[in-house]
Amino acid sequence: MARVLVVYGSSEGQTASIAERIGDVLEAAGHDVVVVNTKHPPAELDPGRYDGVIVGASVHMGSHQSSVESFVDKHSEALNRVPSAFFSVSLTAAHPDPDDREPAQEILEEFLTEADWEPNTTLLVGGALKYSEYGLLKRVVMRRIAGKAGGDTDTARDYEYTDWNELEAFVDEFTTLLPDAPEQP
Ligand SMILES: Cc1cc2nc3c(=O)[nH]c(=O)nc-3n(C[C@H](O)[C@H](O)[C@H](O)COP(=O)(O)O)c2cc1C
Repeated sequence: MARVLVVYGSSEGQTASIAERIGDVLEAAGHDVVVVNTKHPPAELDPGRYDGVIVGASVHMGSHQSSVESFVDKHSEALNRVPSAFFSVSLTAAHPDPDDREPAQEILEEFLTEADWEPNTTLLVGGALKYSEYGLLKRVVMRRIAGKAGGDTDTARDYEYTDWNELEAFVDEFTTLLPDAPEQP
């Protein structure tokens, strides 16, 4: 059993749901998991005390949450010492064509370069359009952005693009990096 820290930033809740799912998958695999929202971090949060760390954030106007940037900046040395992973949630990541996903990959790589952090593995994760939860202005802006990108524009319903199977495979792969992981066949 390993002790794993899952740290995330989320503005509309999708990355929070993803982080919780990651926690569930890790727990089902027998690991001891702590899930932390960077908006409300516990006073003494030291990622260096865990056997592995997974960090996630979502993209808004081309950037990840500043609270996640601060966390990663502050702890990059510890993050580079333990098995670690980063996932970035966005609408761009939901495009089926890899060329269309490229801007999301660039945002992810810039984030890691600025933080001086080299995680063992990364994943782009499709996010969600939660029209029902947006205020009027955000709904109008997001409808326009989605429309320009050829996305879903019916504001009478919500859309989720997260590939949960791919996410679970990503977590399974991460667990092989943890101490006491069973040997691969
Ligand atoms: C105001 C706003 C700005 C956004 N900007 C981007 C963006 O620049 N690029 C992108 O791919 N997705 C963008 N998105 C989509 C979000 O990344 C997506 O909705 C994601 O699921 C949000 O995750 P969260 O609920 O954890 O915050 C934006 C969403 C909102 C509401």
